[in-house]
Amino acid sequence: MSDTATVSEAPSGDLFSKFDDIIETRETLLASGVEDPYNLVMEKVLSPTRAICNGRDTILLGTYNYMGMTFDPDVIDAGRQALCDFGTGTTGSRVLNGTYQGHKECEDALREFYAMDHAMVFSTGYQANLGIISTIAGKGDYVVLDIDSHASIYDGCAMGNAEIVPFRHNNVEAMEKRLKRIPEEAGKLVILEGVYSMLGDVAPLKEMVAIAKKHGAMVLVDEAHSMGFIGENGRGVSEDQGVIEDVDFIIGTFSKSVGTVGGFCVSNHPKFDILRLVCRPYVFTASLPPSVVATAATSIRKLMHGDNKRAHLWENSRILHKGLRDLGFEIGTDEAQSAIIAVIMPDLQQGAAMWEALLKEGLYVNLARPPATPAGMTLLRCSLCAEHSAQEVQEILAMFERAGKATGILS
Ligand SMILES: Cc1ncc(COP(=O)(O)O)c(C=O)c1O
Repeated sequence: MSDTATVSEAPSGDLFSKFDDIIETRETLLASGVEDPYNLVMEKVLSPTRAICNGRDTILLGTYNYMGMTFDPDVIDAGRQALCDFGTGTTGSRVLNGTYQGHKECEDALREFYAMDHAMVFSTGYQANLGIISTIAGKGDYVVLDIDSHASIYDGCAMGNAEIVPFRHNNVEAMEKRLKRIPEEAGKLVILEGVYSMLGDVAPLKEMVAIAKKHGAMVLVDEAHSMGFIGENGRGVSEDQGVIEDVDFIIGTFSKSVGTVGGFCVSNHPKFDILRLVCRPYVFTASLPPSVVATAATSIRKLMHGDNKRAHLWENSRILHKGLRDLGFEIGTDEAQSAIIAVIMPDLQQGAAMWEALLKEGLYVNLARPPATPAGMTLLRCSLCAEHSAQEVQEILAMFERAGKATGILS
C-alpha cells in the first residue's frame, strides 16, 4: 500500500483497518484546508515561552514547561558538564552498567524534594506508571481508578493483569461505592491524579485518600501536572490538601516542571527498594543519559526554592482564566485550579480553525480531542509557564479575542 492509499483501497485482512475511523476523521479535517495541528515543527526554540514556528516568533502556551526550567543557566551548565564528564549515554540498564553517580544524585534530590525515604528514577513518566502499577497490582488484585486516568495508568493496569474498577471522574461517592464491592481480603490499589491534564481540574484528594485508607487500599497519586507548582514546597496536590503522609506512592515526571525527560516514584514503603529487581520497565530498558539526570537533579533542587515562580504562575493562571471567561469563552473549570486552562470548543472543525487562527496570530496552544479528552470534547488546552510575563498574558488574551472573532466562535 502506498503512503497515499485511502481507507477504501485497503486490502481485506489489513491489520491497519482498525485505524480507518481515525484516518477518515483526519483526512476530512485536512481536506477542509486547515494546517495539521499534530505536525507542527518548532524551527528554533528561543526561551521557555517562545519559539519560531513557520518562520514566525510564537508565544508557547501549549508546553508542560510549567516552571520554565528548560533554559535555566545552572540546569544547562549541569547538563553540559555531565555530558563532558560522563559521555552521551549509559548504554545499559539501571541494574547492570546503567547506574552512574548522577542517577544516585537525582534520586537523592527527589528524596529531599518530597521528604520521603525512597526514590526510583525511570526513563519516562510513562514507564514509571507502567512499571510501578504492573509490578505491585497483579492478577487477583483490584485497581480502583478515576475513569479519566492517563493512558500510562491504564496500560500499567493492563500489563499487571489486575482487575480494573473505574469510577466517575472526581466523584467521591462513586469511588467509595466501588471500594465497598471489592472483597475485603483482596489487594486494593486506588490510583488518583493530583491535576487532570485535560481540564486542569484538581482531585478531592483529602476525601478520597481518607476513604481509600478506610477500606484498606494502598494509594498511588500521579502528580505529573502539579509537581513544582502546587503545594507549599511544590510537592503537589497531596501536599496542598495535607494528605501526602497517607499516600503510599507518588509518581512524577521530569518532562513537565523539571524541564527534561524521565519519570520517578517516591515512597516511604519499607520494602520499596525490592522493586528495583522485579519491575520490568525499570530493569529491561536503558537508563537515562548522564546529562539528563544531571539537569533533572539541578532543576529539582532549584524547584525547592521556587516560591516566587510559583506565586507568579498562580497570578498568570488566574488572570488568563478570568480574561478568557470575560471574553466569552467556555472554560473547563469554574476557576483556575492549576496551570492548565482548557478552552472548550464547539466541535473539532471549529476547534481546528481556532487553533490555526491562533497560530497565525503567533500563539501555540494544544488542540486536544477524543479519545484523549473526556466526554467527547474538543479543547484548546492552554498551559502557562512561570516565565510568561504579565505583558505576554495580555498579548495572549488579545490574540484569543481576535482569533475568536475571526472564526465566529466569539460573536
Ligand atoms: C498524568 C500523566 N502521567 C504520566 C505522564 C507521562 O509522562 P512522560 O512524558 O514522562 O512519559 C503524563 C504525560 O503527559 C501525564 O500527563
